[in-house]
Amino acid sequence: MQEQLDDIRRKALDELAQISNVGDLDEWRVNHLGRNGSLTTVLRQVGSLAPDERKEAGANGNKTKTLLETSLEKRTEEITNLVLEEKLKNDRIDVTLPGTPLMQGRMHPTMQTIQEITNAFVAMGFQILEGPEVEWDYYNFEALNIPPGHPARDMWNTFWVDYEDKDGNRPMLLRTHTSPMQVRTMENREPPVRVVIPGRCYRYEATDATHESSFFQIEGLTVGEGITFADLKGTLYEFARRIFGMDRQIRFRCDYFPFVEPGVDMSIDCFNCQGKGCRVCSSTGWIEIMGAGMVHPEVLRRVGYDPEKYTGFAFGMGPERIAMLRHGIEDIRLFYSNDIRFLQQF
Ligand code: PHE
Repeated sequence: MQEQLDDIRRKALDELAQISNVGDLDEWRVNHLGRNGSLTTVLRQVGSLAPDERKEAGANGNKTKTLLETSLEKRTEEITNLVLEEKLKNDRIDVTLPGTPLMQGRMHPTMQTIQEITNAFVAMGFQILEGPEVEWDYYNFEALNIPPGHPARDMWNTFWVDYEDKDGNRPMLLRTHTSPMQVRTMENREPPVRVVIPGRCYRYEATDATHESSFFQIEGLTVGEGITFADLKGTLYEFARRIFGMDRQIRFRCDYFPFVEPGVDMSIDCFNCQGKGCRVCSSTGWIEIMGAGMVHPEVLRRVGYDPEKYTGFAFGMGPERIAMLRHGIEDIRLFYSNDIRFLQQF
């Protein structure tokens, strides 16, 4: 019997050492320690031995059983640890690996420019307003001294909305400039008024490097008592210095807009060549950046402001053009063609 036990022990322990997964451990347990297992079968024979042999065989049998049981426990623990270790090794995260880059959005260059420009005016006490892109003929033209048949209408032809009033007229359009907001603002408030109005405008235009059928403008308007052309110059000079640099010179030339009198266009000396002449300023030394003027008395009268008491000035500029000048962009169409390679540069 001792021999049998030794055999079983050797064989079982050998097998156990080969096992490397939990499922096989259970099979091993059934084979050796189970009801019909090798050891159980031998132990069952102990009862039939002679009494003097029985005691020793029983003790040895139990010893073997205990040994196999504790070996099984030990092996189970070993295998569980091995499996866990393996799992941890495979699941380990290498925190030094580069991550998946996320595309980061940013503000459109037109919006960046609008924000910088309006901030410069906010710092001088202006409020920011916005207005409708679909406008009445009345605000876009009529109230700005541009009656039907006025040549300025040809200059600013636009997209008319397919809507007829009872007289068969088409009085709605996509605004050609932000100036209608001058009128809307004055209709809604009493002086003093000091506002800037950025917004999208539309013109029925053949597009080229400097013309788009949709573009932005920034309108400015201030009305109050005792406002003179000197205030216009001082304010716009300060704006030019804030946006184009402290050394800027400014130049005004007469220009015509039906809703201002006198009307001017304003240029700055070229920030690129300091006025010597270069590509940016087409060798003239000057860059035209906006139209401006004193609000026409007729425009004031129409909104119910007394032109004898109140005066003011207005201005309008194109932020895309200003962004083009500052960044050396040669084609306005780049702003709205959604080419990420272009937009990413700003
Ligand atoms: N609205 C004019 C334009 O579109 C610009 C302008 C605004 C001129 C205000 C004078 C005063 O060209």
